[in-house]
Amino acid sequence: MNVDHLTEATSRLLDLDDAARIERIRSPRWIGYPRAKEVLAKLEDLLIYPKSHRMPNLLIVGDTNNGKTMLIERFCAQHPADDNPGGDGVIIPVLSIQAPPVPDEGRFYNAILELLFAPYKPNDRVDKKQLQVVKLLRYVGLKILIIDEIHHVLAGNLNRQRAFLNVLKFLGNELQVPIVAVGTRDAFRALQTDPQLANRFEPDLLPRWEINNEFLRLLASFERMLPLREASDLHSEALASRLFSMSEGYIGELSRVLTKAATYAVESAAERIDSKVLDRIDWVSPSDRKRQIDRAT
Ligand SMILES: Nc1ncnc2c1ncn2[C@@H]1O[C@H](COP(=O)(O)OP(=O)(O)OP(=O)(O)O)[C@@H](O)[C@H]1O
Ligand SMILES: [Mg+2]
Repeated sequence: MNVDHLTEATSRLLDLDDAARIERIRSPRWIGYPRAKEVLAKLEDLLIYPKSHRMPNLLIVGDTNNGKTMLIERFCAQHPADDNPGGDGVIIPVLSIQAPPVPDEGRFYNAILELLFAPYKPNDRVDKKQLQVVKLLRYVGLKILIIDEIHHVLAGNLNRQRAFLNVLKFLGNELQVPIVAVGTRDAFRALQTDPQLANRFEPDLLPRWEINNEFLRLLASFERMLPLREASDLHSEALASRLFSMSEGYIGELSRVLTKAATYAVESAAERIDSKVLDRIDWVSPSDRKRQIDRAT
């Protein structure tokens, strides 16, 4: 059997039975597309940035469902905590937290303390928690603080926004570590309201995909990682434009379409993704899905 369309690791999965193969198809996979690699390289750079009173920060901006969280998870996985058995205590070079759903400073600190398994009293005053957080993050030797879903805390009225921006400023100054904020365009707009922060947060975009060579390469990468027996040629013109319109340029949607299609290809014994398979999976494009929901609510 010719398995040139697969990576070596993927081709070994062809020995699994169908159920196990489908499980693998449905499991998360990482594709290092060029833009992601660029951002990862920037993060690596920040990791070794010498401490100063003015650290560079990064704002990763992108549409929803387009790979922001996955990218920072990848970075965190590459820089795991170290138990440091011979030393004083655990070392945590990279910490990634999700901003609370509302701009509440206390809850923000709670989230950090919980992540670090630090005992704390939820009712403690904010300044006490803040002190505890700073001490703890110094103690673990933090080098980068990543805050995902930053748009949550930058939403709402201007005072609240300001208060939160000050928290970021304070943490950055106190810890002398770069802060990486991750969020949607709303976050970008909110940061622009504070000139002092706007020029400290360099924005970096994860834009939606367009139908171009990079997209074709992305399709080829997906194909190499989906354990199907036959080549699909996802990057062929007809399939590529069909997949582009089904996913509307979101990598999350593309991943879902391909997962569904590959699953169907195994179950139906088609063993490749072609236009017939794409007809069969019931797929509603993201904007139609949104329209349906809007109508129903
Ligand atoms: N590098 C990648 N390789 C393969 N699949 C990816 C990659 N990045 C993202 N995906 C797919 O896209 C989905 C959405 O990605 P992710 O959760 O990172 O989006 P997001 O930009 O954080 O979205 P949101 O704004 O809604 O939080 C993932 O669950 C995964 O299926
Ligand atoms: Mg996310």
